[in-house]
Amino acid sequence: MKVNDEYILDDKTKVIIREVETSDAFSLVDYIAKVGGESDNLTFGSGGFGLTINKEVEIIENYKKGNGLWIVAFINDELVGNSNLDVSSRERLKHTSSLGITVLKKYWGNGIGNLMMKTMVNYAKTTRLEIITLSVRTDNFAAINLYKKWGFEIIGTYKKNLKIDERYFDTYIMHRYL
Ligand SMILES: CC(C)(COP(=O)(O)OP(=O)(O)OC[C@H]1O[C@@H](n2cnc3c(N)ncnc32)[C@H](O)[C@@H]1OP(=O)(O)O)[C@@H](O)C(=O)NCCC(=O)NCCS
Repeated sequence: MKVNDEYILDDKTKVIIREVETSDAFSLVDYIAKVGGESDNLTFGSGGFGLTINKEVEIIENYKKGNGLWIVAFINDELVGNSNLDVSSRERLKHTSSLGITVLKKYWGNGIGNLMMKTMVNYAKTTRLEIITLSVRTDNFAAINLYKKWGFEIIGTYKKNLKIDERYFDTYIMHRYL
């Protein structure tokens, strides 16, 4: 396993951050549906991607064959955070990767996002990757601060990139040069 770490938060809660396993499929389907409904910051809403457990298992299995990293955070038996670093298989894009990150709302502000970002950036540095890229709503200040804290810079803006209930939102493209 590429990652399997235990941390103690300021309030003494124990968090496990580890690579995803196929046995997480059920929790993940539930989690993705939940976080999708907790903010309008993501590319999906409540209900997540509408995947079956079997499809989720298949996605995890495929992921494990690639060069990226997919981590999950657990408190006791509850999945509370998820982050993935997707690496392109295209020859001319193999130096780039794209990152996604979410934490369950009831745990926001407890340092879990920070721990997952640390894991991702440290992992990326051990690979031949040169860039981590992501897209974030220009008004998602919590996420923008988190990314800046980990060395990401704003390199451009996608105008009207998200459309939620007939309203458009711009997103920043942010890069972390490794
Ligand atoms: C963005 C998100 C992942 C942060 O996770 P988190 O566990 O709450 O973050 P942490 O508690 O570890 O905070 C890490 C840093 O993020 C920033 N941050 C977090 N919450 C913030 C807030 N309410 N306001 C401003 N900055 C904030 C700070 O820089 C903070 O560092 P600090 O504690 O040294 O000040 C979480 O808010 C989330 O899941 N949001 C909904 C989904 C989402 O927006 N994902 C990103 C899509 S691009």
